[in-house]
Amino acid sequence: MDVLGGYVFTFLAVGLTFGNSAGLIAPDFIHPCNTTDSECLIKATQEAIPEFSKGLPNLGVPALDPFVIDELPIQLPGVKVTFLDGKVTGLRKCQVLNVEAYLEKNIFILEIRCNITIKGKYTAVGRLLLFPINGEGDSKIKIVNSVIKLNIKTKYFKDEEGRDHFGIKNYKYSFDYGDRVHYTINNLFKGNPELSETVLQFLNENWRVVTEEFGQPVVDYAMNVTIDTARKFFSAVPYDELLYVPIPKY
Ligand SMILES: *[C@@H]1O[C@H](CO)[C@@H](O)[C@H](O)[C@H]1NC(C)=O
Ligand SMILES: *[C@@H]1O[C@H](CO)[C@@H](O)[C@H](O)[C@H]1NC(C)=O
Ligand SMILES: *[C@@H]1O[C@H](CO)[C@@H](O)[C@H](O)[C@H]1NC(C)=O
Repeated sequence: MDVLGGYVFTFLAVGLTFGNSAGLIAPDFIHPCNTTDSECLIKATQEAIPEFSKGLPNLGVPALDPFVIDELPIQLPGVKVTFLDGKVTGLRKCQVLNVEAYLEKNIFILEIRCNITIKGKYTAVGRLLLFPINGEGDSKIKIVNSVIKLNIKTKYFKDEEGRDHFGIKNYKYSFDYGDRVHYTINNLFKGNPELSETVLQFLNENWRVVTEEFGQPVVDYAMNVTIDTARKFFSAVPYDELLYVPIPKY
């Protein structure tokens, strides 16, 4: 009753933004498939992403685009980087490449291609390429055509009212950094703009190796938040409003 009460209240307050006349909890950009055909799932997922990534405050689902990183410490070999006041954008324009759902086997596969921009402040302390580093400034990372493959082990559960829901048991993913990663980072070496520029150039010329090392903790973090967001959504919206296929026995 709490969730529903909150929903109705927000529904009125927000002015029908997410409203629909059928008394559903699911927002109206969700177009449930009648089968688990990939073709339909891809289309439905693609249609849901732009609105879903804005967040659904009335359902307790936070935004993924923009997605805020208050503070993220990253320990690299030799350098401690802290990323602050960060903003990640681009997810709403991700292109869905594949979706597969195996309801009986509890497997859900999602493959998307995205351009992602990460902007924020940073500090970096330690040693980088032989040089002692003590940098602090602004950074921007642009990732072009990255491909994310997500393999989710799902489960089913009933809420207090006895309605079925999707759940996420665990997940694995692969992240291909794609065509190019551009780094724009100022003031890597305090008081030494020439060295800062030279090292930045090195990072950009060796973007693939650099990103594989540096990117892993960031991507782990982002993936964790994304999955957490999906969990919240699945807990709020019942199974039968997401997919018009009978739920397997569980
Ligand atoms: C599912 O079937 C209903 C009723 O036949 C139809 O109106 C609806 O368009 C179908 N949905 C999709 C996504 O194909
Ligand atoms: C990403 O950006 C590149 C270059 O601007 C563009 O060609 C490509 O279509 C974009 N990809 C996606 C998934 O939006
Ligand atoms: C993932 O997110 C959850 C909930 O936000 C948090 O408790 C957990 O520590 C995070 N794990 C990692 C590896 O970031």
